[in-house]
Amino acid sequence: MQKSDNCLMHLINALTQRLLLPKPAAIFAATCAVFAAVAQSNAPLPVVEIRADKVAARMPPTFYGLMTEEINYAFEGGLYGELIRNRAFKADAIQKIIKPEDYDPAKYYPAKFTNGAAPKFWSAVGNAVVSLDSNNPLNAALNVSLKLDVASASPNSPAGIANGGFWGIPIRPRAGYQVSFFARSAAGFAGPLVVSLESADGKTVFARAEIFGLTGDWQKYETTLTVKKVKPSRENVFKLTTSVPGTFWVQQVSLFPQTYQNRPNGNRADISQLLAAAQPKFLRFPGGNYVEGDYFSERFNWKETIGPVELRPGHRSCWNYWSTDGFGLPEFLGWCQDLNMEPVLAVFAGYTLKHDYIAAGPELEAYVQEALAEIEYVTGDAATTDWGAQRVKDGYPNPFPLRYVEIGNEDNFDKSGSYDGRFAQFYDAIKAKYPELQIIATAPVTNRVPDVIDEHFYRSEEDMEAQAFLYDSRDRAAKTKIFVGEWATRVGSPTPNMAGALGDAAWMCCLERNADIVLMHCYAPLFVNVSAINTPKKPTDSMQWSSDLIGYDALTSYGSPSYYAQKIFSLHQGDEVLATSAKDLPTYPWQPPAPKGSQPGQPRPPVRQVKSLFYSATRDTQRGKIIVKIVNRADAPQPVKIEITGAHMVASKGTATVLKAKNRDETNSLGQPEHIVPETGKVRGLGASFTRTFPPCSITILELDAK
Ligand code: AHR
Repeated sequence: MQKSDNCLMHLINALTQRLLLPKPAAIFAATCAVFAAVAQSNAPLPVVEIRADKVAARMPPTFYGLMTEEINYAFEGGLYGELIRNRAFKADAIQKIIKPEDYDPAKYYPAKFTNGAAPKFWSAVGNAVVSLDSNNPLNAALNVSLKLDVASASPNSPAGIANGGFWGIPIRPRAGYQVSFFARSAAGFAGPLVVSLESADGKTVFARAEIFGLTGDWQKYETTLTVKKVKPSRENVFKLTTSVPGTFWVQQVSLFPQTYQNRPNGNRADISQLLAAAQPKFLRFPGGNYVEGDYFSERFNWKETIGPVELRPGHRSCWNYWSTDGFGLPEFLGWCQDLNMEPVLAVFAGYTLKHDYIAAGPELEAYVQEALAEIEYVTGDAATTDWGAQRVKDGYPNPFPLRYVEIGNEDNFDKSGSYDGRFAQFYDAIKAKYPELQIIATAPVTNRVPDVIDEHFYRSEEDMEAQAFLYDSRDRAAKTKIFVGEWATRVGSPTPNMAGALGDAAWMCCLERNADIVLMHCYAPLFVNVSAINTPKKPTDSMQWSSDLIGYDALTSYGSPSYYAQKIFSLHQGDEVLATSAKDLPTYPWQPPAPKGSQPGQPRPPVRQVKSLFYSATRDTQRGKIIVKIVNRADAPQPVKIEITGAHMVASKGTATVLKAKNRDETNSLGQPEHIVPETGKVRGLGASFTRTFPPCSITILELDAK
């Protein structure tokens, strides 16, 4: 075909394809854009060929999922409904670093506290003198409490404590809040105590309730605070005060709004709704680095994260803040239940982030048994297994459908060479007891064949696009399948911008095309609390890792462009991957950065040509649709010829779902949560062979009726 024919065809195509806005102005704009694009380039027209008669893979039912860990205030200060920060007063814990050889995993090592110190994230109200007190604690797990000495107080001048939550306490109109706490008092003081929700400036009291009958023994007190029809706000505090002088102690001071699906100890509704809308099929938990911890005593010790929340000691996490473990193993499972996701369980495998490890052998066995018990907790029957019975006690009567267990996390960082042996010991024990389970390795091993290997990729946009054909040439004969358990195009902070979404979509096309060997994948990190982000970073920041899928503060949340890219891929996955090939894909030049550690003046790697157009095709057999995904990362419109062979009929009408931005720097934020969102509309001009022009910086999903 001559270039002029091409040109004419693009014009006709642009006039007929009419996405969403079939207005003359839109057609005129599209026509100009096509002329500009074609005039600019002598490049041949890219062609994407789709074989409707050749199924390259069945789409795995759990292809799109979530990866999660406590990072960026993901749970406490994020998804977990709890609104009080440092509710158990243990954020000041002094924990000894214990080397693995001195550490007994079955033993509980209580943290120590400086008696008399003021607790983090609480402030005194009025004349109260507040101090941490390790004497006479609530229990061994919460082995400290907050002592309040009130020498003078009155109704006009109450005394007590205030908590500002995780960068605010959200007040929503007509909302109800469950308050609970444990308290005891010195002789002569019975209260009453007043719990209230107030604006931080003290001008507005949204709700208050009185609590009577404190005694010398620890008792639990509960009440509900209900707010009137007020404007939503987050610059608020929770207060616990008295107007009567005296001394009392409190512990586990908790404030919960209504949770998603009203689950007790459950999750924040708005964030859950964002997740639910993307229909994730599995949840990889509890990490990530969080499963490993910096030291053995700081690993995710699942046995200390179950049972009543006031019996969970909590721990310091590797992301440098305290976790009460109110969001523990049962809550991960509850989250799976809320969103109908399958758990993908990562177990601690005897290696920590500070490179402490226990080599394979008898010393490692306790951790292997710990993992077996954890699997029993998730899957065990209440009648015949102890840990299954414990799960039922914790509120989950039915065993969870578990298929995948991951041994550790990123054990490629273990330079001791111990992973091969550690993996084999876990693998053998798990396979012996649970032969049906698929075992995931986190680094290559030689003495066992893992069912699955977890590969992680954090990349710039260019780098992600440069590797967007990585798996097309992977060995199909290998027995080990691939789980891309962490990946992200890290452009944009705190959440990725459109450039990030483009890199992500290019990568997801690669994952889809290769779904015969890629079983599942998940973006990471999932969450970020955007309330306190400083340059340079501060230890008190709410973000430890930038480019996170979903951002929020105490009151509202939003999905990044990357979230919407995930969502539209997940909602349009189909059940069969069709064989595809492409010709004449356009490229752009990219100068890769100098490798880490290279000296100034050292030559940089050569400039590479990176593809700027990406594709994948699947079929929804039930609905009779062929789904074509095209990513145009270029700043100009890109005409593409799409040829579908092997189908009896492909209709000329269909739908297009498009996520695009004016430029790659555009993004979403708390202030503009829906600046970039997908739009779906009817389109024409499709068929077995058609040319369509894809907008600059765009991700397009075409659904075509086909037989
Ligand atoms: O996702 C952030 C961190 O990146 C994870 O905790 C770790 O597995 C990876 O290095």
